Amino acid sequence: MRNLLFLLLILPSLIFSSPILKNNGIVVSEQRIASDIGASILKEGGNAIDAAVAVGYALAVVDPCCGNIGGGGFMNIHLADGRNIILNFREKAPLLANKNMFSKLDTPVDGSIKGYLSVATPGTVLGLDTALQKYGTFSRKKVMAPAIQLAEKGFIITPYEAARYQKYAKDFAKEPNVSSIFLSNGKVLHAGDRLVQKDLANTLRQIADFGAHAFYHGSIAHKIVAASKANGGILTLKDFAKYRVKFQQPLICYYHEYTLVLPPPPSSGGIVLCEMLNILENFPLSKMGFHTSQSSRTIVEAMRYGFYDRNNRLGDPDFVHNPIDLLISKPYAKKISDIIKQSNNPPPHKVIQFEKELTDTTHYSVVDKKGNAVAVTYTLNGFFGSLVIAGDTGFFLNDEMDDFATKIGEANKFGLIEYDANAIAPGKQPLSSMTPTLAFKNNQLYLITGSPGGPRIITSVLLHLLNLFDYHLSLQDSIYKPRFHYQGEPDRIDLEPHALPLAVQQQMQKWGYHFQPQDQWGAIEAIKCNGDECEGANDIRRPDGGVGALKS
Ligand code: DON
Repeated sequence: MRNLLFLLLILPSLIFSSPILKNNGIVVSEQRIASDIGASILKEGGNAIDAAVAVGYALAVVDPCCGNIGGGGFMNIHLADGRNIILNFREKAPLLANKNMFSKLDTPVDGSIKGYLSVATPGTVLGLDTALQKYGTFSRKKVMAPAIQLAEKGFIITPYEAARYQKYAKDFAKEPNVSSIFLSNGKVLHAGDRLVQKDLANTLRQIADFGAHAFYHGSIAHKIVAASKANGGILTLKDFAKYRVKFQQPLICYYHEYTLVLPPPPSSGGIVLCEMLNILENFPLSKMGFHTSQSSRTIVEAMRYGFYDRNNRLGDPDFVHNPIDLLISKPYAKKISDIIKQSNNPPPHKVIQFEKELTDTTHYSVVDKKGNAVAVTYTLNGFFGSLVIAGDTGFFLNDEMDDFATKIGEANKFGLIEYDANAIAPGKQPLSSMTPTLAFKNNQLYLITGSPGGPRIITSVLLHLLNLFDYHLSLQDSIYKPRFHYQGEPDRIDLEPHALPLAVQQQMQKWGYHFQPQDQWGAIEAIKCNGDECEGANDIRRPDGGVGALKS
């Protein structure tokens, strides 16, 4: 009955999730409560950066699996005066980390995905605070007030959220300070129950009062370090004191009449997306047809080359050279396209099994009436990160150490096999796939987008862009269309239900491709603009999402 009630409540936003507006401001995220908070900040006169910071903190409360203050990410900012800025607030390996720290363990996989050894120094709080100070107009207290209120007073859990808690109930039960928040008398919370997070409210209040200093130098850092030391971790106060965010020059590339503005390494997303688009520009995709055997084979081959370069050549640019100019150059892509045109059968690859479904990051998009735009993807890496909360801080810590090549040449939880460029080193940022994306057409803002999904982030965004650029689908259809993903190793094409017609799969199997049906993945939360008319659309794959919009 409760479930039915919730379905009825969310149904209107599923149907009407894509209003076309003269742009007075739109916010799209995977939690409509957070989208509405962003929209109300815009309504009060805040700009897109104010709203993005408010949404970042709100998601840390209402989307605790993925929204966070214990993780990190990338913010892609376009200012109405034409400036484009990437703010890198990705986590960093602790200063006591070393290349072989996981290969020495008996259970190396668990070591890098659960518990304190998997935690890298978080960047979200300094990232959000820096963005607000540099480009926002509202005070920290004002943009954080809604998140603090939600944590303090609680909010009603949806069926979708309750199902997530159910899945992780056993992990929650292992940690008394986690179960006291996410379980009630040892029982998992149900749809319709209220999740109250008093500890998190206190932590957020300290940040609102004292800024990032509270997190990196004050009691929050002390509590995390104490819990880490008591539980086999290696974090020290120096990791927090020395943590810095980075402003980076965005990566710019071109696809037909579109200009893409993307994060550079340590995110691989920008380079790989550009490389794949550059390759695909040499093929008449729309003539080949939507998800036909010819077009799908071509897209899969572009994915193969993009991921090969990702896994072999990219890493934190402060530690290793990334051949960016080569990888995003048109002649390089042309050479690859010629090989794809000439070869018929894909070469055999080793098959490696990895977890089936991974849904643990979040993306949101914001535009304001002046044309400032923000795309944010941030993450704890795994669902609820490392599954530990330090003392009474009230928030989950990330397990981002698993994004390094924890064992050179062996698969991580996303099946990615990487080498020395992404080896662990003290203070290094692990390679990411997060791809908060801005696209421009005729020098005008056209698209703000991104997705969670580990390596599938890059291919989800790729297919969404092709759906818009080559197949001219509506924004909503470009998001909803079932996806496929290929990353070279494991050598199989992951398929969402109904992603490719059976006849297409059979034809491709004859050519030597393997398929693996999967549950749905990713969650694209996007805004598309045409002049000053913008529309927002959320991804039904995460049904709590919504569009917060100001009507003209
Ligand atoms: O930075 C990365 O690439 C990963 N930590 C992202 C993880 C992710 O998207 C999981 N969500 N589905």
